[in-house]
Amino acid sequence: MPESDANIRAVLRYYDRTESRLGYLYLLRGTKHFGWYEAGDSRWRFSPATRRMEHQLGRRLGLDAGSRVLDAGCGMGEVARTMAADFHLDVTGIDILDFNLDEARRRSEKSGLAGRTRFAECDYHDLSRFEDGLFDGAYTMETFVHAAEPERVLAEFHRVLRPGGRLVMFEYSRTPQERLEPAARAALDAVCELGAMPSWHRLNHGDLESLLDSASFKVESVEDVTARMLPMLRAFAVIGRVPYTIARLLGKTEKAVNAMSGVEMWKHQEAWRYNIYTAVKKA
Ligand SMILES: C[S@@+](CC[C@H](N)C(=O)[O-])C[C@H]1O[C@@H](n2cnc3c(N)ncnc32)[C@H](O)[C@@H]1O
Repeated sequence: MPESDANIRAVLRYYDRTESRLGYLYLLRGTKHFGWYEAGDSRWRFSPATRRMEHQLGRRLGLDAGSRVLDAGCGMGEVARTMAADFHLDVTGIDILDFNLDEARRRSEKSGLAGRTRFAECDYHDLSRFEDGLFDGAYTMETFVHAAEPERVLAEFHRVLRPGGRLVMFEYSRTPQERLEPAARAALDAVCELGAMPSWHRLNHGDLESLLDSASFKVESVEDVTARMLPMLRAFAVIGRVPYTIARLLGKTEKAVNAMSGVEMWKHQEAWRYNIYTAVKKA
């Protein structure tokens, strides 16, 4: 069985859990990424913060109206709709969760954006349904961490982008294992294992830049924007404290993965960073 098949089953299991479904729906209204906070913003106002993060993406894509863009790991299509509505892009969203794709199509229809957003069930390790050079841009919003074979995914992004096409990735990196205290190492191991995120577990700070370079992308910038999303993580740590404690007492941590992640990642901020990578496909 290919490594990515086992990984895809683990990703499906993670997002199909009651805690994941309810948490993303009721706390974030279907959006599944962190928000961008400036000084003075309330940490509890999640929706404006997540929209601000999406605007950071649109600006870094910097593409003309009507440009064709691939949203790799689109979830319920919230990011895709912001790219279509506010940046006038033509977005193809792919994901492996059929229940998210159904909801993405329904929401796009309802908001009048079905003409500029389309969604397909597809694993980003294999983009063979898309021809070479089809897209002007591509992005991942907290999705590449799930990749079992990151080199293969980047090779596919490279193939489906036109020369000069832009790739923007909002992704985590980790502190090397040997530089972490045992408690921080165990916390990150648990978050990556239970959250089905092998690439986060594997990619140290600086590694994704090297992979992009090896995949024939020119890296324009790498920004550590951890400080911008920390207020939302703090809120999740507060919300998660009680459920995580109860789950631990019952020996059922796997039922409260998001609660655990909020608490442990807040506690062990030395173990990780949240970055924005902007790259261009070399001609
Ligand atoms: C944290 S969510 C982010 C969703 C969306 N980008 C957002 O910000 O709302 C990660 C998404 O990546 C998707 N994903 C994980 N592995 C994938 C793969 N191999 N191919 C396509 N999508 C994948 C998951 O199903 C999930 O919807």
